[in-house]
Amino acid sequence: MKTDDPQRLRADRVWLTEDACDLDDFRALAEKTSTLADYPTASAVEKNVLIYDSRKVIEAVSTQEGRRAILAEICEAFGIGPGVVVFKHAYEDTGIIDRASVIFDEIIEEQHLTSTGGGDHFAKPGANDRIWNSLEKHCLADPENFARYYGNAIVALASEAWLGPHYQMTAQVNRVNPGGAAQSAHRDYHLGFQSSKVIEQFPAHVHRLSPVLTLQGAVAHCDMPLESGPTLFLPHSQTYEPGYLALKRQEFKDYFDQNHIQLPLEKGDVVFFNPALFHAAGTNRSKDIKRVANLLQVSSAFGRAMETVNRERMSAKLFPALKALKGKLSAGEIANAVASCAEGYSFPTNLDRDPPLGGLAPKTQAQLMHEALAENWSDDTFTEALAEQAARKLS
Ligand SMILES: [Fe+2]
Repeated sequence: MKTDDPQRLRADRVWLTEDACDLDDFRALAEKTSTLADYPTASAVEKNVLIYDSRKVIEAVSTQEGRRAILAEICEAFGIGPGVVVFKHAYEDTGIIDRASVIFDEIIEEQHLTSTGGGDHFAKPGANDRIWNSLEKHCLADPENFARYYGNAIVALASEAWLGPHYQMTAQVNRVNPGGAAQSAHRDYHLGFQSSKVIEQFPAHVHRLSPVLTLQGAVAHCDMPLESGPTLFLPHSQTYEPGYLALKRQEFKDYFDQNHIQLPLEKGDVVFFNPALFHAAGTNRSKDIKRVANLLQVSSAFGRAMETVNRERMSAKLFPALKALKGKLSAGEIANAVASCAEGYSFPTNLDRDPPLGGLAPKTQAQLMHEALAENWSDDTFTEALAEQAARKLS
């Protein structure tokens, strides 16, 4: 009911409710057309999604001015644009992907043998195989391949475009076997993982905050024709502010089912999307394609990631591999690998034991690793320094 009571109007502004979600309001935002001219580095718009040729992106960031321009372009594509971007051939050398796939297959095999590993939040268990925290497991199993994989310029660029520096990488492998059913339409972490009752307790600005705390990505580990069920997306749906609540309502679910799009991917392509975009994994109708994606969930330095990651253990394992790769990987690739591994933010810490030295913030794990690499520390010296630093941060 319409009201002109200012207190009531204010409460309606601050408290979003499932009941107040309106499909017409939503359609006015989500039925925008993505325009290629607004995104001059993009190569195409397909089904309302921006497609970038990764080589062209990497060329465009070779100057400082070009880098600022492309970071801004991608940032707006995630925020006010379609919310989803495909980077074609982000991995030109698909051998890096193939080696990682072998590692993932071995981990899944081991999970089957030991009956460990978990299900999927949004799909029935069984038809899918998951590797939770594939980030750490990958690093421990093959740090050299991890360095090449996460040294990837596009992964780093998209993460920085949305989240700024010092992001926290996490990753989970999803293998959807033939017959694997679609997920239900959802938004992702943070508010996307709560019930309406909980979501309604957060003021509206937190609904706006949640999407900027995370970036979702997927690295295609195999060719994914439409029959294999690549992710279903509804471009522009991230712009509807009460969308975390709307997806609990049937008419929004129906709208998603009737209007979502799907794009085939090739091995080595990477998709990144705003976590508030309505999306769901598709049904795998193929006879024989095990659809494997490594899902990247990148957290802001200022957010809490969903998964616990032992970055100290990973850093100790990655360090010797990075020393051996000097000269084979570029300085940029090494920095990208460090950013995906070591903690890049100073806090939380114990300020009694770990005071800021010479600046406002204590040294980060990533800074320690860069220092150790630059000065060619022995593995033991670095491992001890990591442990000392971690101990200083404990209360
Ligand atoms: Fe998701």
